[in-house]
Amino acid sequence: MGLIDSTILFVKQQLENAEGGHDWFHIERVYKNALLIADGEDCDLMVVKLGALLHDIADSKFHDGDESIGPKTARAFLESQNASEDVIEHVIAIIENISFKGGNFEKTFHSKELEIVQDADRLDALGAIGIARAFNYGGFKNRTIFNPNVQPNLNMSKEEYKNSNGTTLNHFYEKLLLLKDKMNTVTGKKIALERHNYMQNFLSQFYAEWDGEK
Ligand code: ADP
Ligand code: NI
Repeated sequence: MGLIDSTILFVKQQLENAEGGHDWFHIERVYKNALLIADGEDCDLMVVKLGALLHDIADSKFHDGDESIGPKTARAFLESQNASEDVIEHVIAIIENISFKGGNFEKTFHSKELEIVQDADRLDALGAIGIARAFNYGGFKNRTIFNPNVQPNLNMSKEEYKNSNGTTLNHFYEKLLLLKDKMNTVTGKKIALERHNYMQNFLSQFYAEWDGEK
């Protein structure tokens, strides 16, 4: 069996009990997005594929905030498959640097392969799938869908923003609607814009229905 096939098997097994927004199907969508984006780029396709497959192998959110567990798990697996040290280091760097949050320290690693996998992951937080994942995650956290007393928007004051935290609608303003301007690649930007517009339409419809205007 080739390295990609054995990685797919490993990831499926690792994510068997994962939350719905971070399960194998998320990985499969990111993998497909990554291949589509990579098509227009000069890159190491093996690193892109492994990065996409292993990027959420052990999310710190579900492991008491431990950020080292994903990279450690990926390294142990890739070593067991006799992947070259160059490939292992690049894939680990992708896993460590892909997150939107950026952590508390300045990240300095850059590569085309990271840009591709990061765009592929961000695309899955946008559009119809992005909406579904946001509400799934909100449900998982037992969050309120929306609070009309604090209407979230991109220009709100710090105080308003703090009060609006905890609703799933707020997540659109805190993260999802910002993603289109953070895309790295030409293909990623194009698809992100389409999915962004779809989410804007969703929000307009949501508020209209909320106000009973339908
Ligand atoms: P990633 O791991 O892909 O960098 P996250 O783990 O932060 O991103 O988010 C994964 C999915 O869960 C995304 O679709 C994101 O929108 C959703 N999500 C994360 N945080 C929240 C939240 N506070 N409210 C609603 N959805 C969320
Ligand atoms: Ni992901």
